[in-house]
Amino acid sequence: MKRFKFLLTALFSTLLTLLVVTACNSADTNSNVLVMATSADYPPYEFIDSSSGQEEIIGFDIDIAKYIAEKNGKTLQINNIDFNGLIPALQAKRADLVMAGMTPTEERKKSVDFSEVYYEAKNTIVSKKGANLTTADTLKGKKVGVQLGSIQQGVAEKIPGITMQPLNKINEIVQEIKAGRIEAAIIEDTVAKGYIAANPDLEFNLLPNSEEAGSAIAFPKGSPLPARFNPVLQEMKSNGKLEELVKKWFGEDSPALKKASGA
Ligand code: ARG
Repeated sequence: MKRFKFLLTALFSTLLTLLVVTACNSADTNSNVLVMATSADYPPYEFIDSSSGQEEIIGFDIDIAKYIAEKNGKTLQINNIDFNGLIPALQAKRADLVMAGMTPTEERKKSVDFSEVYYEAKNTIVSKKGANLTTADTLKGKKVGVQLGSIQQGVAEKIPGITMQPLNKINEIVQEIKAGRIEAAIIEDTVAKGYIAANPDLEFNLLPNSEEAGSAIAFPKGSPLPARFNPVLQEMKSNGKLEELVKKWFGEDSPALKKASGA
């Protein structure tokens, strides 16, 4: 009898553990919470705003994610991790989605699924003002910063004769340029714009013939979410919501641009 009781208790606690583990598992698409991972070093896509005294992640991607979550009757939980850890987080099902200005490359499509593209961007060379680094050729012999795991790292790898310096966060890269430890960096136009607005000692030049660096939402492979997200993205494109958010976050006099990069 004692033994039976023991077995029963053991069985019960195993079941309980299982239940708790399942409940905590972010990638449970039936739950009311959508867990989104991002790398909040990328104004105006996503960045940390501490103006209210509390740290809050805000930006273009965050507004889109909240809109889509709401349309799906879900609340959003945002986890901030380094860009390089985002795809592994999806693969480990530690997140239901990633919005991080992430480009849907063929290489990444082997590991994750993507929504349709919601914003197009281009690559630029960021440097000290007057450095005259305007084409890939001018970067020969130079130390060039890129974000670890980004498509910009891939772009830099193809430029012969440069010393590539992969770093975890965009603001670290910007600080390295300002300190003169690296001469340039490859960064997306909209992000570069914000950092240049906040750092008048820097400039950016569009990288000629640069491949597009558009953004899409990433999901674990086989996730049912793209089918629910794409129609809302479509709707946002046709009802002007997306345009409104583009103006809010990327517009010339968007206060977000300056505040975003205020180092
Ligand atoms: N679009 C580029 C890529 O997919 C860079 C994105 C970086 N995003 C970020 N939140 N730091 O590789």
